[in-house]
Formats: sequence, C-alpha cells, structure tokens
Amino acid sequence: MHRKNVRVLIVDDDESYRTTLCTLLETEGFIVDAVSDGIQAINVVQKNSFEIVLLDVKMPNVDGLEVLKFVKEHYPDTETIMLTGTGDVRIAVESIKMGAYDYLTKPCSFDELLATLNRTMERKKLLRDNLLMKSELTRLAGTGEIVGQSAALQKVLDMAMKVAASDSTVLIQGPSGTGKELIANFIFKNSSRKDDPFVTLNCASIPETLIESELFGHEKGAFTDAQSTKQGLVEVANGGTLFLDEIGDISPIIQPKLLRFIQTGEFRRVGATTTLKSDVRIISATNKDLASEAARGKFREDLLYRINVITLQLPSLRERKEDIPLLVENFLRKKYGPTSQKKVTTKAMEKLMKYDWPGNIRELENVLERAAILCQDNVIDEDDLFLPFHPAHQSNFIGGKTGTLASLRDVERAHIEGVLRTLNGNKPKAAKILGISLKTLYTKIQQYGIRLD
Ligand SMILES: Nc1ncnc2c1ncn2[C@@H]1O[C@H](COP(=O)(O)OP(=O)(O)OP(=O)(O)O)[C@@H](O)[C@H]1O
Ligand SMILES: [Mg+2]
Repeated sequence: MHRKNVRVLIVDDDESYRTTLCTLLETEGFIVDAVSDGIQAINVVQKNSFEIVLLDVKMPNVDGLEVLKFVKEHYPDTETIMLTGTGDVRIAVESIKMGAYDYLTKPCSFDELLATLNRTMERKKLLRDNLLMKSELTRLAGTGEIVGQSAALQKVLDMAMKVAASDSTVLIQGPSGTGKELIANFIFKNSSRKDDPFVTLNCASIPETLIESELFGHEKGAFTDAQSTKQGLVEVANGGTLFLDEIGDISPIIQPKLLRFIQTGEFRRVGATTTLKSDVRIISATNKDLASEAARGKFREDLLYRINVITLQLPSLRERKEDIPLLVENFLRKKYGPTSQKKVTTKAMEKLMKYDWPGNIRELENVLERAAILCQDNVIDEDDLFLPFHPAHQSNFIGGKTGTLASLRDVERAHIEGVLRTLNGNKPKAAKILGISLKTLYTKIQQYGIRLD
C-alpha cells in the first residue's frame, strides 16, 4: 500500500496539535483530513472512506470513544488509533477492547506516530491480501507471459503498453480464450498502480441479486443475509485497479450505478444513505460485441462510452497462426518446467497449424495438455492430438465451429478439403464432384492454403 492512497482523518480539539500533525502527515505523503470534534468526525467518515482515523479521546460533546463506536460499527475496515492523555490508561484499554487498533499517549514523538501508522498500514495490507486470496479475486490465470510475434498481437501489445501508463478505462474485446484476462493483467502490471490491488469481478458468475453488494458493499441489516457491514470491491480496490470480466453480462439494473461510479468515483453501499468515494481504474473485458448489444438495447450506450475510452481488440488464434509454434513451446515450458523434454513432432505441428482453433489459445492449451499425458517418450505426435472439429471429421464437411457459426468461406474451404481427402487428393475427380473447373480448384487450393500431406 502506498501512502499516496492512504487517507487519514485526524480528530482533535487542540488546534495547534491538529495543524502540526496535519502538516507532518501530508509531507509524509498521506491524504489528510482534520476535524476538531466528534460530531464533525462522524459526519466526515460518512462522506469519505478513511484507512485510518487518529482519534483524540477527550473532546467536548461527543468524545473519542463514541466516535470509535460509530466507526467500528459502520466502517469496521477503518483502523483507529486513539490519542490519550497520560493517566488515561484505563480508557486506552477500553478503546482497544472496543476495536481500536492501538493508542498513543500524548504528547508522542512524530517517529512513534509514524511507526504506529506504518504498522497499521501493514496490518491493513495483510487483511486485504487475505481477503483477496480468500475470495479468489486474484486468479492465477492471466499471470503468465504473453507470447506471440505476429503483427496482429504486437499491435495490441503496443497499444496496451501505451494505455497502461494512463488512468483511462480500457475495454478488451475478443473471442473466448484469446487472452483477454492476460492482457488486463499486463496493463495492470505496467501501470503506475502496479503495487496496489488488482481486483477481479466476473460479472457473469455472480447472480444479479448479489452483484450490487459485491461491487459496492452493504450495510449491516441491508438484507436478510447482511449480518455485518461489508466492503464492496470498489472499496477494496481503492487506489488500484478493478477488472470487470465479462462485462457484457452485467445486469441492466446495476449498469446506471456502475456508470455513476465511473463518472464520479462515488457509490453507496446497499442499504446506506451516505455516499462514499473510491479511486479505481476500470479495465473491462468481454467476448460480446458491445456496440451491437447497445444497439439492441441490452447494454447502456453511455456506459459503453465510459468503459471504452480505449478499446483493444484481441485477434483470434486463426488470425495469427504463425504464433502457434511459440505458444506450444511456451505452454510446454510453463506446464512442465524449463527442463521438460516434451516435444512436438513436425507432423503434429503441421496438424496444429491447419486447425482453425474456435476456442483459441485456451483450446490449444487443452489439446496440448491432453496430448502431453497420452504421448509416448515425451514426443507428441500427430495421433496424440485430438482436434474435435477438424474439417475432415465433420459430417458432409459442412458445419460451424464450436460456439460460432461458420462463414461461407470457412464452409467452402472445409468442404473442398474434405472432398479432396476422401478422394485421396485426386484433383480432377474432386473438381468434377465439386462442379468447378480444375483451374478453379487449383486457385482455391492455393487461396485457402489447403495442404493434403
Ligand atoms: N498471448 C498469449 N501467450 C501465452 N498464453 C496465452 C496468450 N493468450 C492467452 N494465453 C493463455 O490462454 C488461456 C486463456 O487466456 P485468458 O483466460 O486470458 O482468455 P480470455 O480471453 O479471458 O478467455 P474467456 O473469454 O474464455 O474468458 C490462459 O491460460 C492464458 O494464459
Ligand atoms: Mg476471461
């Protein structure tokens, strides 16, 4: 956690002490607010989310312990450090029991205060890391290296590198398994927020009824299961990056709230009456065409404009087949370690290059994983590769690819290849059956890069 993102509230009725603390903490890089009494404190904690509150115990009207009680009840993730006078040990102990993180006896040295603040931040970081790990927000997929030298991929990477430095929203579009999550991670790792949280929400995997509370949090008692106050992901990600995966599937009910958050940084926990703020960079991904979803009224157009200040369109594997050998090598190394002896024969590689990969890189990895288990002596041969929709296996050689509909061009290519294979490559006979001249057949074979070895 960087200090630049750490918001501290100082509550003390002693003006000179308050001002001194304020100046010192600001020079240390904290974002500081300061108020002079308990009532103001209770007001201001409802407007901003603070990481840490420095709380004087003795104040007129509403004292420190009352403020502590309020903070712990409504904002349990805000840590509180009590400032007590000498002789207030009993109160100090009491405050710890009530949930304060620590106490300092006034007047304390600035070093002592800083040390306590650092410890508090360390603890918050641990808690946050735990939370991230527990809820599996940080997924291991997408943490790998991005492989590929094709112009199509390099173009995307160049652009990703450029936008990484800015804080603008990025929308990553592309078919399933093309590496959208990997690119999101790449942008995060190359951004100035790289040391801050990277939080992922898969919009498709969370029921519509829970998504609001997952994103924005909820107050205790907001609904039947809300037994305690809970931070939403936008709060957990404060200072960092929020990755909204499968954003095309986000419920229309939540879309206006998300829009408002992106525009203003403001949000409300479910069941809360006050507005909070959080500073989060949004990266989204989808395999849907959001422009046409918007045209069909399924996705708000204003939200689309907000999330795609920059759009990265990932190419399908079919459009960058030249990357297949590198991807194969990378996968075998990643999966079986750098010393692995596993190899792919030339014939097997040719088979991989010919296939259309409707499931893209994820499918390539699955095929290889299976082949690596089945193969003999670490050598992956042609027969170890199971390609379910290889054109020659399709009935009548016509058909779509998994999940997509085939274009006429794809069907024509597959059909020509299938007929040729069935006829053992006899081209004059194939031309006759296809009802085209031999010359046209040769042209098509060349045009589609059909190989029959
Ligand atoms: N350029 C690449 N280099 C190396 N591995 C890659 C590359 N692109 C994707 N992968 C790998 O392919 C798999 C799928 O990638 P990822 O999960 O990022 O795809 P996705 O586009 O988010 O897919 P989906 O739409 O299905 O969620 C992962 O294991 C990822 O590591
Ligand atoms: Mg994905």
